[in-house]
Amino acid sequence: MIKYIPILFLSFCSYHLIAQNNQQVTPAPAFTQNQTGVFHFDKKTGIVSAGKNYDKEALLFNDLLQQFYGYRLPISKNASKFSSNSNKIILQFNATIKDEGAYELQVADHSILISSGNSTGIFYGLQTLLQLLPPEKMDACDIAGILIKDKPRFAYRGMHLDVARHFSSAAFVKKYIDYLAMHKYNNFHWHLTDDQGWRIEIKKYPLLTSVGGCRAETLVGRYGSDLYDNTPYCGFYTQQQIKEIVAYATARHINVIPEIEMPGHAMAALASYPYLGCTKGPYKTFETWGVIEDVFCAGNDSTFHFLEDVLTEVMALFPSKYIHIGGDECPKERWKHCVQCQKRIKDNHLKDEFALQSYFIQRIEKFINKNGRSIIGWDEILEGGLAPNATVMSWRGEQGGIEAAKQKHNVIMTPGEWCYFDHSQSLNEDSITIGGYVPLEKVYGYEPIPASLKPDEIHYILGAQANLWTEYITNPKKIEYMIFPRMTALSEVLWSPKASRNWDSFEDRIPQLMKRYKLWGANYSNAFYDLQAKVVPLPHYKIGWYLSTKSKNDKIIIANSESLTSAYEYTEPVEIKTSGLWQAALQDENKKIVSNWVKQQFLLNKASGKPVTLTYPPAGKYAGSGGFSLVDGVVNTMGMSKSSQFLGFNGSDMEAIVDLGEKTVFQSINLHAFAQPASWIYPATQVTFYSSDDGVSFTELATVSLPDAKRNHIFQYQKPGIAQFIKIKADALKVIPSGLPGAGYKPWIFFDEIEIN
Ligand code: ACM
Ligand code: ZN
Repeated sequence: MIKYIPILFLSFCSYHLIAQNNQQVTPAPAFTQNQTGVFHFDKKTGIVSAGKNYDKEALLFNDLLQQFYGYRLPISKNASKFSSNSNKIILQFNATIKDEGAYELQVADHSILISSGNSTGIFYGLQTLLQLLPPEKMDACDIAGILIKDKPRFAYRGMHLDVARHFSSAAFVKKYIDYLAMHKYNNFHWHLTDDQGWRIEIKKYPLLTSVGGCRAETLVGRYGSDLYDNTPYCGFYTQQQIKEIVAYATARHINVIPEIEMPGHAMAALASYPYLGCTKGPYKTFETWGVIEDVFCAGNDSTFHFLEDVLTEVMALFPSKYIHIGGDECPKERWKHCVQCQKRIKDNHLKDEFALQSYFIQRIEKFINKNGRSIIGWDEILEGGLAPNATVMSWRGEQGGIEAAKQKHNVIMTPGEWCYFDHSQSLNEDSITIGGYVPLEKVYGYEPIPASLKPDEIHYILGAQANLWTEYITNPKKIEYMIFPRMTALSEVLWSPKASRNWDSFEDRIPQLMKRYKLWGANYSNAFYDLQAKVVPLPHYKIGWYLSTKSKNDKIIIANSESLTSAYEYTEPVEIKTSGLWQAALQDENKKIVSNWVKQQFLLNKASGKPVTLTYPPAGKYAGSGGFSLVDGVVNTMGMSKSSQFLGFNGSDMEAIVDLGEKTVFQSINLHAFAQPASWIYPATQVTFYSSDDGVSFTELATVSLPDAKRNHIFQYQKPGIAQFIKIKADALKVIPSGLPGAGYKPWIFFDEIEIN
């Protein structure tokens, strides 16, 4: 368990920085115990690489010291090289510490002893020592006595980087590897090829990089914008650069897993060599995102010859036992209409195109296995039958991983809900992300062992990994912003014993972590301390705006207008009495605004805040605040829409009864609604309006339908009337008709506001 060490103030030595609190080591060590003694660390501290040769580990430690603090320490094999009264960091072989990566670290008055039975353990001990140093520049500091006994929980601790959608320079990839190493990750999954770019030099196929390494232009803004930047985008790594990066990672005890995507996500390869596709082209390196129907032809043997040639060069560059062959998101449309693919299905007595995908993966697996390596594939490789020795990367939730483990296959968990760092980490995101919401707490709370696995299946879960897809991540600063602090949280999930994982302890460490990112020169997200805004019901059927932040230092400032001159300090939910704009932000101790302004437009009417009874419950993530969401004064059709403020029903109609409290004269009734067929959200087929004086017997007023309903649409009843109760019933399609997205499934219907004027 993690123990708290009181901060030591050493007044006799005014230039000393304060000894670090051992709680600050992240990922938290398996065992720590406070000890007496204080180690004085300064530029004269010697590193003794005793017994076995740990010079490489010592030199890498020095590289980081140089980078963060501006100096190196003297290194020697022999302690006697240093004066007898100098303080020493001793790196020592200890055969009893056997687990890969395990180490002990003991800080005493004049020595820091780091011992392990393997150089990985020594390396990790030095990474821990780095975190016992202050997170700001210093020439000297005191380190409080401590004993750490540490080892990893999971054997596979991975981070992924997509360099196809947006390219990262070789220099940044090395920096990324440094970040992994400092967090004790041991696998770097390098996504090198995709529809939008082929990024690895293959000597036998030079067009892969000269053609497939370039796209003519790139989508601007969100997917579907249809706007392009008219600027060619190119980039690839030479084999020499790849060798250097692999050596760089290996020195840092990180295995590099290359991913060569097949049979889908192959447009850059098809653009380079059109004979690889079913239609033979023409193809172009893709300029927008998504999933593309053109894939490698599975019927043509030359596809396999090509891929074997490519993989031969790849295996020569990467010593990794695992070679990732993709396997995800491969549409079967081209194969259905390709003579060669259909012949392959027939000749091999395959059931269908899913079995053809399985044939494809198994054929490639045989080749990889013959070369002494193993494949990893995304969980789609389960479809049509798993290749005999494959490791499955479970990304579409946990289910693929569970199934693979039950089939006695190794698994690496990367479920989107917890492990997709391209998803937003803030509800107030200030730049485009691919969507989703994976906040820091969610990542920290992830448990890689699915609860439904039996004890004898658990060992198939090798570990987990976070993925960083770069459609909307165009530069290193944004990469850092998306991974920090989430990859730090995941490192603790993967390294620390499950029993000692403790959110409160992690939360306490966040400010210190942020200082350390600054010391590293790394960008990071402050989203954890975001200003959170919520529209809430107040007593007596009033509407309130509730604001909160986890920041302990910042104040919340709020204004009820476009102008900020009237801004004042927020103390409690404000009552929204009239229509209009409210905005709020965080202000630091120096009265500087340190967040975006969060804005909320309110449109109040006779229904606002009134009690609403729902006949059918709203569903899943779109249950909002129940009936209140329909009268909360927030109309998403006015812009600034948040899906969390819609109420969604799945497979049922919507029926709401509003109690206006007394007989009320009205001129019109509007039901604001939303549709997005691509997401299986369809307009209601019809909406019926009713009124009543007693809430029991209702009179039908009118039925309205909107055959051409747009994304945002309004069902309107526009005749004056008088009533205490208004009932609105919206009928959903019973099932989504064929030919439309989600055909055969029950549709969603979405509403956000009942407006009675
Ligand atoms: C994936 O996110 N398509 C593996
Ligand atoms: Zn084909």
